[in-house]
Parts: sequence; structure tokens; C-alpha cells
Amino acid sequence: MNSKIISIGSYIPSNTVTNKDLEKTVDTTDEWIVSRTGIKQRPIADSSQATSDLAFEAAMTAIERAKIEKNDIDLIIVGTCTPDVATPNVGTLIQKRLGLSNFPAFSIEAACSGFIYALNIADKFIKTGESKCALVVGAETLSRITNWDDRNTCILFADGAGAAILKPTDDKGIIFSELGANGEYADLLHVPYGTSRKPEKSSKDDYFLRMSGNEVFKVAVKTLEEIAIDALKKSNIQSKDVDWFIPHQANVRIIQAVAKRLELPEEKVILSMDIHGNTSAASIPLAFDRAVQDGRIKKGDTILMQSFGAGFTWGSVLLEL
Ligand code: COA
Repeated sequence: MNSKIISIGSYIPSNTVTNKDLEKTVDTTDEWIVSRTGIKQRPIADSSQATSDLAFEAAMTAIERAKIEKNDIDLIIVGTCTPDVATPNVGTLIQKRLGLSNFPAFSIEAACSGFIYALNIADKFIKTGESKCALVVGAETLSRITNWDDRNTCILFADGAGAAILKPTDDKGIIFSELGANGEYADLLHVPYGTSRKPEKSSKDDYFLRMSGNEVFKVAVKTLEEIAIDALKKSNIQSKDVDWFIPHQANVRIIQAVAKRLELPEEKVILSMDIHGNTSAASIPLAFDRAVQDGRIKKGDTILMQSFGAGFTWGSVLLEL
């Protein structure tokens, strides 16, 4: 038994912060941001919206498009590093809003790899027969842990959510999925303090993301090249047979380097950081949905997804839609 994505949905807040807006608050330029990252604008949640609100909207769209009853869902997994509160988890918050109960609902904290981690776990639940219909979500409000005075990070991060419905299938569906992590790199991209670890004396930016961008960049390119080649090799699929490459949307230059190594033409690479920014766990399903809605991705296509994020964590999923 394999698992298959039968629908995808997404949600982005209506409020948009452009590069020009950021020129007014930090020492940067639209030209620098576009050329160094590929980002032109980023959706930012309003103060009344928490991660589960964004996740719920994306989930509702995925449910409607899947043409299933809400009651069919028997598993919810949410990838997020910006949960509404320490507890209850975002999975149960969505479960409640959907009016559902009595099945597993939980969150995975794997930063930008959250959606790929969640997909990998849901695939295993379906393969073992424990789930017949899973809701998998990647959702973030990164704006809440971003220092808006720090030009190294505030130009990158954004808010949004994407969701997928998975069901068992006799078709190929998810052909290959593998996860990885290396905690050695924890300090290169991290939030120093939070729920449990507290500073002796608190300052404003203790609870914001800090990134050594250049060092993250180098490890990201190397790791993503390796895992993409590995995914194709282990699935016995050649890169020419991949219809679409949907990577985590952190930096267009990272994606171009990996695509070049895989000899994938740029028409096969799905980019959405131009309008979505880096939405961490939401970035892959947001890009995925954008390309389904504009008619590029179709049923039967072979798709390679891959993520890389804080931890470091990484993962890949190869599937036939
Ligand atoms: N606007 C203008 N100039 C900026 C700037 C900004 N927002 N941020 C940094 N700079 C300057 C730096 O001060 C530096 O100036 P200097 O040469 O005079 O010292 C110069 O631009 C280059 O800085 P650098 O940090 O080397 O830029 P970069 O090319 O590495 O790009 C990132 C920075 C963050 C865009 C890039 O490193 C990146 O995308 N990293 C990986 C992110 C990632 O993959 N994360 C993983 C998952 S979230």
C-alpha cells in the first residue's frame, strides 16, 4: 500500500510587505534583496491571526478540493516552528476547529523541513494501515520570531500555510521519502531563547531568529545536492524523468545551484519566494499549490520535493501525483 496526495490547498495573509517597504525601515534595497534572494514581497499575518488560523484556512481548501467529508480524516500532522502556544499543539487546534476528535493530531518541529517531515510520517501511517485519510499541513507565522530591525533576516521570512490530503493508493503515489538531521549546526540558524530556555537578563532580540546566512548557504547547497541525487538513485529515476522540482523556498541562488547539478532545466523548477518569501514549513506546499492552480502541475506528474532548515534538518520526497 502506498500513499498519494489527492489534493493541496494553501492560504496566505492578505497583508503584504514589499522590498520597497523594507527600504524605509532597514539599510537595504529592493535590488539587493531580489538579486541575492529572489524575494520581492512577503505575506505577513495581522495581529489577530495565529499559525493555526492560517493552517485551518489551508486545510479547509485542501479538504474541499479533495471532495472528502471532514469526518474521513483520521490523522492530522502539522509542521511548524511557530506554534500558537506551547500547548495544545497546532494539530489539535485544527482538529477542534474542524469539529473532529478521537484520532492522532500533532505537530512536528523541524523548521523549514516541517512539511517534508510531516509528509514522511503520514506516508508511514498510511503504509501500515493506521491511517486511511491524513491531513498534512505546513504553517508558520515567522513574522512573530523575526527581528524587524535586522536586515540579515527580516528581508527573508514570511507567514503562510499549505495543506495536503493523503489517501492510500494502489498507484505509485509517494515513491521515495527520506529524512535527515545534524544538530552540530544548531547555532547557525536558531532562536536563542524561548519556552523553556530563558536568558538571565532578557533583551528584545533574545526571542528572534538569528542566522549566519553565508555558512547556512554553503551547507544547504551541499546537502540539497547530495540528497537530491540520492533520492533519484534510490528510486531508480533519472533527473530527465522528473517533471517538477519543488524545493524549499529560501534562496533562488541555492535552488539554481541544485537544479544545475541535477541538470534540471529552469522551466521544471517551481519558484514562489518572489511573492511568498521564506515561509519555512509552509514554503513547499505554497509553491506546490501555486503551480497546481496555474495549471503547470498535473495529475500523473513526477515531482521531487526537498527541504533544508534549522537544526539542521533536511528531507526529500519523490512522488507521482
Ligand atoms: N541589504 C543590503 N546589504 C546586505 C543585506 C541586506 N538586507 N544583508 C547583508 N548585506 C550585506 C552584508 O553586510 C555584506 O556586506 P559587506 O560585503 O560589505 O560585508 C554583503 O551584503 C554580503 O553579505 P552576505 O551575508 O555574505 O550575503 P549573502 O550573499 O550570503 O546573502 C543571505 C545573505 C541570507 C540572503 C544568504 O546567505 C542566504 O540565503 N543564506 C541561506 C538561507 C537559508 O538557506 N536558510 C535555510 C533555511 S531557512
